[in-house]
Amino acid sequence: MSELTNEIHRRRTFAIVSHPDAGKTTLTEKLLLFGGAIHVAGAVKSNKIKKTATSDWMEIEKQRGISVATSVMGFDYDGYKINILDTPGHQDFAEDTYRTLTAVDSVIIVVDIAKGVEAQTRKLMEVCRMRKTPVMIFVNKMDRDGKDPFDLLDELEQELKIHVRPLSWPIDMGVKFKGVYNIFEEKLDLYTPSKQTVTESIQFKDINNPELENHIGSDMAERLRADLELIEGVYPEFDVNTYLKGDIAPVFFGSALNNFGVKELLDCFVRIAPSPRPVAAEEREVNPEKDPFSGFIFKIHANMDPNHRSCIAFLKICSGKFERNTNYKHVRFNKQMKFSSATAFMAQKKETVDEAYAGDIIGLPDTGNFKIGDTLTAGEILHFKGLPSFSPEMFKYIENADPMKTKQLSKGIDQLMDEGVAQLFIHQYNGRKIIGTVGQLQFEVIQYRLLHEYGAQCKWDPIHLYKACWIESDSQEALDNFKKRKYQYIAVDKEGRDVFLADSNYVLQMAQQDFPDIRFHFSSEF
Ligand code: G4P
Repeated sequence: MSELTNEIHRRRTFAIVSHPDAGKTTLTEKLLLFGGAIHVAGAVKSNKIKKTATSDWMEIEKQRGISVATSVMGFDYDGYKINILDTPGHQDFAEDTYRTLTAVDSVIIVVDIAKGVEAQTRKLMEVCRMRKTPVMIFVNKMDRDGKDPFDLLDELEQELKIHVRPLSWPIDMGVKFKGVYNIFEEKLDLYTPSKQTVTESIQFKDINNPELENHIGSDMAERLRADLELIEGVYPEFDVNTYLKGDIAPVFFGSALNNFGVKELLDCFVRIAPSPRPVAAEEREVNPEKDPFSGFIFKIHANMDPNHRSCIAFLKICSGKFERNTNYKHVRFNKQMKFSSATAFMAQKKETVDEAYAGDIIGLPDTGNFKIGDTLTAGEILHFKGLPSFSPEMFKYIENADPMKTKQLSKGIDQLMDEGVAQLFIHQYNGRKIIGTVGQLQFEVIQYRLLHEYGAQCKWDPIHLYKACWIESDSQEALDNFKKRKYQYIAVDKEGRDVFLADSNYVLQMAQQDFPDIRFHFSSEF
């Protein structure tokens, strides 16, 4: 195997997602401990936004600023190079999370045993399903009382619309929690509630071995055997291909806080999770190992310090090897660029990178050259697919509050939209600009940044909308007819594509029913 192939095969780039408080930060931290990337618990100043700061977005941005270094956490484990992409816990930054999901090869979802599937998890899973991203589920907080594990599995299937397959099984829960049987490795892992150590586990290939009674008592042994029999009867044999295709999610149980079941999850993860896979570009499919360097920008993080207006553009390498001080083509500008100070994210430090491989994320210092979706290549013209914008859920008209600064305002809006802070639509009926976001905070962020970075003032006017969705049709006549009939509700996005502004779910459903020739899309890529 060539060095390049070897480097790419050992990479595992993934995100951990959850509803706030399910235990994402705790799990991330434990994974970093296993990788030796950190040495003490509590070291992860993650993207987690403190609960007290929910209405103070400046504070949130400060915390987000600090968290640039932890946006990507790379470390080595058992010969694998692991890249964890952190996602903001705060739901107002969901768009950030959606975009991060475009840069990962797989996802681990954390679910709280007591709470089950929550709103945020459902939404994030939709994005994974759309992209067929392989998903593993970690059911957390087994040291607390929660739902019956079989009921939870049913709930996961129904709510997340994915088949599941337990690869470990809990032995009771809460104060009576004894541990798990690791189905994947045929081991009995006994629970010792200790926060910093790896738990010991006993190989237990034959669950009918009477030794089991000695470890967990006869009642529990009997129940475990019955549960496992039921699992084998109900769920098909685990086939790693069904996981890789995004059809089945393996499920693990544990307690991140007590470092229980985490190593088991990680050991299975590195073995079965995908290394970087071929990526579809409009022109052709790009192969991570065979093709020269290419990558795309999936996130831009602005520096909130007005004295340092530079940003960091996050690039996911799709193929080949990135080298420092080498000329690469910025495809949209058709211009050569080279980078002397690209950063890699190892553990919690940013460090200058000399080379990086497909699967890795690097940070490029940016002074306004990049927008989300931009491609860098060794020379070829490539446009990667799979970087959609998602239908926003909150809308306001944006108006100029300082007529002397019209140009600044429009430049500011353009750049903030390129950065992916929100989405801009032009209402065709009245020519007004509408900003669409997924969270209320974004409006405050935009207003503040327009003023402080561009010297422009804006004000917001309300507009009552339920959803904006992209529309298309095979018949130009049908499309024209729809636009004529709904002329008050038609807008175009930044790229000039047609968008339908529905003011209620009912209106949207009626439109879908009444105009069967029109296709309504909830993400900008179709
Ligand atoms: P998040 O990133 O998904 O938002 O969750 P985070 O890891 O911050 O965990 C949320 C809370 O749940 C934390 O408690 C954390 O200690 C707790 N927790 C995580 N894993 C487990 C587990 O396996 N068992 C139990 N019992 N609790 C767990 P907190 O009190 O909100 O915060 P902290 O003061 O402990 O940091």
